[in-house]
Amino acid sequence: MKRERINAPKGVSEYVPPRSSAFEWVRDNLIEPAALAGYQLIELPVFEDTQLFSRGVGESTDVVSKEMYTFEDRGGRSITLRPEGTAGVMRAVIEHSLDRGQLPVKVFYSGAFFRAERPQAGRYRQFYQVGVESIGLDDPAIDAEIIALADSAFKKIGLRKYRLEITSLGDQQSRAAHKVDLVTFLDRLDLDEATRARAAINPLRLFDDKRSEIQEMMKGAPLLLDYLSAESKENFAHVCSLLDALGITYVINPRMVRGLDYYTGTTFEFIHEELGAQSGIGGGGRYDGLMQTLGGADLSGVGFGLGVDRVLLAAEAEGVLPTGEFVSDLFLIPLGIAAKKAALVIAQELRAEGIRVEIAFGDRALKGAMKAADKSGSAYAGVIGDTEIASGIIEIKRMSDGQVSSVKMSELKSALSPSASNFDRK
Ligand code: HAM
Repeated sequence: MKRERINAPKGVSEYVPPRSSAFEWVRDNLIEPAALAGYQLIELPVFEDTQLFSRGVGESTDVVSKEMYTFEDRGGRSITLRPEGTAGVMRAVIEHSLDRGQLPVKVFYSGAFFRAERPQAGRYRQFYQVGVESIGLDDPAIDAEIIALADSAFKKIGLRKYRLEITSLGDQQSRAAHKVDLVTFLDRLDLDEATRARAAINPLRLFDDKRSEIQEMMKGAPLLLDYLSAESKENFAHVCSLLDALGITYVINPRMVRGLDYYTGTTFEFIHEELGAQSGIGGGGRYDGLMQTLGGADLSGVGFGLGVDRVLLAAEAEGVLPTGEFVSDLFLIPLGIAAKKAALVIAQELRAEGIRVEIAFGDRALKGAMKAADKSGSAYAGVIGDTEIASGIIEIKRMSDGQVSSVKMSELKSALSPSASNFDRK
């Protein structure tokens, strides 16, 4: 009886061969600059106490108010699948007292995140981020380093058609001064109740409203960048001058509002030009009050999250992905039961030396197996039967030109040099 098929839940991103190699390559390249700069892996749960996000990310955000996967576990606790990584990192830093050691705490992470958004190209309900956080020191040079790490990762992948947008949300004094004028401005607008409620929690949110009538109304709104205190202004100018020194180009966008409420000071987004509506390939910034909000010390942090799914789409759009997939150095064709055992043993020994070996299982006729060897792209193919087992000698065929040589099985390693695949791991 044919049973009904079960499909993946709507809107999740998943990667199966051969595209999964490209995904892996992109993800590893996004991590590499941070690893070279001394950031270390932090591996955290994908579910957390719901309060971590409602308190940490902010009630006025779409992420918290509309997009969380929240459920009650069997013990009656409210649990949420992580919609982002920064709050969890902060929780772990506090819980493990990492901030009592050397500062800044420098960590990176990579994994799945969950937001119940309306799925479309580049926007998924389960997606992947590579993130970096530096916690404990408030120094504009760290802001610049963080931005440079993201920029180097994109450049390493080969992306060119993207821009960096940057602004500053200033210190508390700057935001308080701006808020007074912004609230007065908003009071004069004709806003519906839900929008007013959002504005009451965080008036900056209205800059981010996608509705054209709101965008129109917000055209004359006072901009936070014009309210920066002398200290914040100097701090932002310092970050910009460091980016100049690093040769990183940027556009100052005073209307940029990030989708999460914890940001202060420097904030930034990387926008790719060929991705349509979901063009943000990464973003981040400084978050001064987050640690205290979550019950920790009053320490500042800065970091970013890069969207692996979108960077892969961008790399495909720009045609910069390396071509090719797994190819083996040797394709072994065993003929018979004893030969399978011999092939398994040889393969195990060669693989331990870093040589890629595939075995043709399935008892296919020799002709079909040779065809499969050809198709696999393997550098060499060799047949093992009773004669080879008895003599200890195997004939290997170089697939590029058909040249055949006889090699002692014990000396196969030196006859085969590992080929480099484009998607090679380090
Ligand atoms: P975010 O801007 O919300 O920041 O997300 C970072 C990146 O994740 C986005 O630029 C985008 O590339 C990707 N992304 C977000 N939502 C989706 C989705 N539904 N589908 C596909 N990709 C998506 C954060 O999450 C902050 N935690 C970043 C950060 C770290 N700030 C400071 N430290």
